[in-house]
Amino acid sequence: MASLNAQLRALSAKGAQAEAEHPNLDWSQPRSRLTLWQRPVVCGVVNQFIGGEEATARLCREVAPRINLAAARDCLITQVEDERRHAEIYRRYLARLDGRPAHQNLLDEAVERSLSWKGAPEAALLAFHVIVEGEALAFQDQARARIPDPLFDELSRQIAKDEARHIAFGRLYLSQSLPNLPLKERIEIYQWLRALWFDGTTRLTRGQLGKVIATAMPRSWMENRWEHWHNALTATGLFDGSDPADFTSA
Ligand SMILES: [Fe+2]
Ligand SMILES: [Fe+2]
Repeated sequence: MASLNAQLRALSAKGAQAEAEHPNLDWSQPRSRLTLWQRPVVCGVVNQFIGGEEATARLCREVAPRINLAAARDCLITQVEDERRHAEIYRRYLARLDGRPAHQNLLDEAVERSLSWKGAPEAALLAFHVIVEGEALAFQDQARARIPDPLFDELSRQIAKDEARHIAFGRLYLSQSLPNLPLKERIEIYQWLRALWFDGTTRLTRGQLGKVIATAMPRSWMENRWEHWHNALTATGLFDGSDPADFTSA
C-alpha cells in the first residue's frame, strides 16, 4: 500500500487539477421559476452554503501552518482555493436569484472555537473535515432534491465532488495521525467535539432560517445525528485501542 505521504500527494495533485477539469457551468440557461415562498428559502440555504465555504476556507488557511507533514499542508492549501471557488459560485447563484448576502456567518463561532483549541490541530480537522463537511455534503443532497433548478443541481454536484475529496483527505490523514495522540488528549477532543456539536446545532436554530431548521432538526434529531458522528469518529481512529465508553463517560 502507498505511504501516507504518497496518498496525500496524489490527493493534492487531483485537487490542483480539479478546477480545470470541472465542465463550465451554463449560467446562460433560463432562470428557474421559483414560487414566492420558495425564493427566500432558497436564498437562505445558499447563504448557509456561502457561510460554510468561507468558514472552511478560513479554518484550512489557519490550520495548515500547524500541520507538520508537508503533503497534508498542501492538501489544505489546495482546499482553501476550492472553498473560495465554491463560495464564488454560490455568490453568483445568489445574485442570479436577486438574493441579498447574509450579514452573519453561523459557522464563525465553530471556526473560532476550533482555532482556539490549544492542543493538536487534529481537533480542528475532526470538527471540520469529518463533521462540518460531512453535514454540508448531506445538506447539499437535500438541497438538490428540493431546489427545482437544473443549474443548482449542476453546480451543487460539481462542488460535491471537491467536498468528497476534502472528506477523503480528513479520513486518510486523521486515521494515521490520531492514534499517535495520547489517550487523555483524544478523550478531551471527543468531549470538546460533542459540546461543539450540540452548541453549534442549537445556534443554527437561532439564525435567519431558525424556524425552518428547528423543525427539521429538533433535539431528538441532534442526539441521533450525534450518534452518527460518534460512529464516524470510530472510523477516524479517535478511539484507537481503547474503549469508546472511556470517552463518553469522561
Ligand atoms: Fe466547499
Ligand atoms: Fe470542502
